[in-house]
Amino acid sequence: MGCGSQRVDDYESQSSTSQDSGYQSDSSFEETLENSRPPSSQDTAPESPNAWARNLFFHPPANQEPHVGRLALPEELNSWSMTSGGEPSSTPHRVTPCSSGRRSLEEAFGEAGAPLEKRQCPESSDYDEDPSSSTSGCSSSTPGCSSSRKRIRIEHPAGSYKKIFETCEELSEPLPAIITGVIPSFLRGSLLRLGPGLFEVGDEPFYHLFDGQALMHKFDFRNGQVTYFRKFIKTDAYVRAITENRVVITEFGTFAYPDPCKNIFSRFFSYFKGVEVTDNCLVNVYPIGEDFYAVTETNYITKVNTDTLETMKKVDLCNFVNINGVTAHPHIESDGTVYNIGNCMGKGASLAYNIVKIPPTQKDKSDPIEKSKVVVQFPSAERFKPSYVHSFGMSENYFVFVETPVKINLLKFLSAWSIRGSNYMDCFESNETLGTWFHIAKKEPGEYIDHKFRAAAIGLFHHINTYEDQGFIVVDVCAWKGFEFVYNYLWLANLRANWDEVKKAAMMAPQPEVRRYVIPLDIHKEEQGKNLVSLPYTTATAVMHSDGTIWLEPEVLFSGPRQAFEFPQINYAKYAGKNYTYAYGLGLNHFIPDRICKLNVKTKETWVWQEPDSYPSEPLFVQTPDGIDEDDGVLLTIVVAPGSQRPGYMLILNAKDLSEIARAEVECTMPVTFHGMYKP
Ligand SMILES: [Fe+2]
Repeated sequence: MGCGSQRVDDYESQSSTSQDSGYQSDSSFEETLENSRPPSSQDTAPESPNAWARNLFFHPPANQEPHVGRLALPEELNSWSMTSGGEPSSTPHRVTPCSSGRRSLEEAFGEAGAPLEKRQCPESSDYDEDPSSSTSGCSSSTPGCSSSRKRIRIEHPAGSYKKIFETCEELSEPLPAIITGVIPSFLRGSLLRLGPGLFEVGDEPFYHLFDGQALMHKFDFRNGQVTYFRKFIKTDAYVRAITENRVVITEFGTFAYPDPCKNIFSRFFSYFKGVEVTDNCLVNVYPIGEDFYAVTETNYITKVNTDTLETMKKVDLCNFVNINGVTAHPHIESDGTVYNIGNCMGKGASLAYNIVKIPPTQKDKSDPIEKSKVVVQFPSAERFKPSYVHSFGMSENYFVFVETPVKINLLKFLSAWSIRGSNYMDCFESNETLGTWFHIAKKEPGEYIDHKFRAAAIGLFHHINTYEDQGFIVVDVCAWKGFEFVYNYLWLANLRANWDEVKKAAMMAPQPEVRRYVIPLDIHKEEQGKNLVSLPYTTATAVMHSDGTIWLEPEVLFSGPRQAFEFPQINYAKYAGKNYTYAYGLGLNHFIPDRICKLNVKTKETWVWQEPDSYPSEPLFVQTPDGIDEDDGVLLTIVVAPGSQRPGYMLILNAKDLSEIARAEVECTMPVTFHGMYKP
């Protein structure tokens, strides 16, 4: 049996361990489960009896120790979340791009007087109309901040963002794009992106943002011309759903009911046979050796032909390395070495997080995946509750893993499975009391450094960059304040709501903030009570307590209430793991993506590109070949503008100031995409 299924006897053999450890009985699990169900999921998604828990315990590859399978935790869109705080009065179609956009603000929105200057103080609540907001006002970390409290918010009363959550068809051949502007001559490759493209099968809907079936998009650049192409990835989840015209494999927030055509005995046995882990690779695409893989966050990755977008093969990482799943956000070095992180069950049935290393292209042409190995292991703060992990930091010599309070309750998972089915989303819980644990490890050779770095509770999906400087590790992240799981706000019913309802829901969600944490490497016990951070350019602190705990307080690099800077990108080829200056991101207005942002992490200066009723995606940075400055390059983003004659386009922005260089438009719309890459 592979990693993708679990038998009931597997559960039984493990459950005794659970009970020995003082965990609750099944009946109280059930009660806990009911009590802990997120209100939003109750309100918007139907009860989904299921057993996603069943795939927790997998059989390991031969000659490896048993381990626990990572819950198939689809991705993302933390970012599509909403934030808390007082709801401002609306200011329709008023926006203040800090710098240039395609047109001036007056042209774009028909409003005079909206200034076009660069913002100087992100914390000054440029986006906020609520003076009482905790993030309003200039912070002490922004010397000389003089920004006025402008009111700059674009509204979406027409609700055209709903279009990006609708099913579309794949294409039989590439569509030529209509180009405005001039495509830079150094763009001769392909922009590849992944997202959901099928949001229902037959009369069965998918409920969560991370459930729709994987659709791969491609914009090809050839001789100044651009074409657009897309294909569904022919995963088992997709093929079987299409074949049987129903949801066959349980997704993140959608339970797959047993086949109604089977008789009651067949259904009974298929129910207890175990839930299959999804291979719905809708989150990202990246290279391993000379191949390209579409990925989600389970143990399955799917090799694709990036020329034809044909699906080539499904690979089970459990066959090669002791891991139960890996994130969709690996770090890839210039020679092609891939590092990733995921949960595993370690010795003594305790949980751990493994860093996996996949070597670059092999001289003997063998598959690098076969040479995967675990290079270092991080311990879990709680024995039966691993944290959800979406990405990690990597500097030149260190790994940084941030263990957040969003936990996967394995026992809840198992009880949910044994009593009634449920989906993955049901098994998350937040342990507020633990706060956030920062872990570091040396890269070569892999070695865990056992210091107790702690911080207040945050949600974290995307690291921006991590680097070493003067004996410190600087860790920049897109944080979400508090301990609540942001994914609770990403049910499709929430995202497809009318604008007022979207905003209302956003009132309850965690608040986004770009933060810098600084971890000291040289620690002495005699320095208790002092701030160990002596970097001159940051207000982040690290203070050692008498018990040896080192408490980290971040510096805020950007904060806009209900306005997230998310899906961060940098000049990765040159500045990954290095002291850098610029981050690029997708701006989320409540949880609707409606602008592209640039942030100077040193000065906190920001720039914005935005147009009304237009919904961009994560901006990917491509460096100018002869570029000198860090931001000598372009940003590529897919924009959906539902009301336009050509409603889908690839936008090329100058990374210097976010001014438009060109756009390549096609006569079809596109659903939301999460992550992707530029393949030269
Ligand atoms: Fe992500």
